Amino acid sequence: LNKEQVISMLDRVVVPGTGRSLVKMNLVRDIRISDENIDICVASTGLIEPSQKSLKQSIQSSLDDSTRIKVTFENVPTGTVNQIGKVIAVMSGKGGVGKSLVAGLSAIALRRRGLEVGILDADITGPSIPKMFGVQARPSGTDSAFLPPTSRSGIELMSINLLLASEDDAVVWRGPLIGQTITQFWEEAVWGKLDYLIVDLPPGTSDAPLTVMQRLPVSGIIMVFTPQKLTAMVVKKAVNMARHMEKPILGVLENMSYLYVPQINKRMNIFGESHAAEMAQSIGAPLLAQLPIDPELALLCDEGRLEQYMNPLIEEIGKGIVESNI
Ligand SMILES: Nc1ncnc2c1ncn2[C@@H]1O[C@H](COP(=O)(O)OP(=O)(O)O)[C@@H](O)[C@H]1O
Ligand SMILES: [Mg+2]
Repeated sequence: LNKEQVISMLDRVVVPGTGRSLVKMNLVRDIRISDENIDICVASTGLIEPSQKSLKQSIQSSLDDSTRIKVTFENVPTGTVNQIGKVIAVMSGKGGVGKSLVAGLSAIALRRRGLEVGILDADITGPSIPKMFGVQARPSGTDSAFLPPTSRSGIELMSINLLLASEDDAVVWRGPLIGQTITQFWEEAVWGKLDYLIVDLPPGTSDAPLTVMQRLPVSGIIMVFTPQKLTAMVVKKAVNMARHMEKPILGVLENMSYLYVPQINKRMNIFGESHAAEMAQSIGAPLLAQLPIDPELALLCDEGRLEQYMNPLIEEIGKGIVESNI
């Protein structure tokens, strides 16, 4: 048995409380193989005692030579375990334009390309990510580190909604506490190895987006707008904020562009003529997609089955994100 073989076996051992493997969670610290022993050192970050025990058992039963295996645990800071490729924030000046939907679809698009993805729901007072994915599991963990649950397709999710006693509980905190919570979601969550972390921002240019841009290494922003004139105006405020914070805009996305009515084979411009091309040009970023109003999307969101949405536009969004030079 060589090191590569041990790693590929550990990649099949799921960390309790997450849907991801020990390797993907980046918890394997060291592997030493000698004639007598296979010593595996695992980071215990976020793992409570019973989880460590069951993990030890799964490691031992995953390898044929179970008597040779010695598992030890080492507590390391979350910062050592987290290896996040790119942080992408989804923003708009306005509420209800579909930021959360776009954050969800972007994560789904990247996941379908075989990438490792997480979503940090930074909308503390109006969290909507867990509902779209039908996830209710409470994050497990220790005092200093917690494990984000995963969606059906393996997207890690962290949201205040997963921590509230009831989904309908209101969060009525002031700015500093909201900022602290977002920072905790970044610093204390065991995200492990991710290619992309998508951050779903609340509307506007208030404390929460500011915290995200100041405290998180945001690589790029996806700006969402609708054809409405009012949206165009408030989106420009958000664009100015991004410029001020020196965060590049990776792409723009027009949501609720039109409604297609199959019975008459016509596109109706419910919110007015599209200005997607002008918006993209004036912001100076590529247009990722124009999403129609789609009753199926609304239904899938409500039923927590967004991952089942099939539309070539999803591939377009994914392609736009990975091919961006940001
Ligand atoms: N293109 C669309 N077609 C159908 N429903 C949509 C579309 N975009 C958004 N919605 C619905 O509109 C509501 C608001 O979207 P959401 O993503 O929560 O907005 P925001 O995060 O900007 O406040 C959600 O219920 C969502 O399912
Ligand atoms: Mg939202």
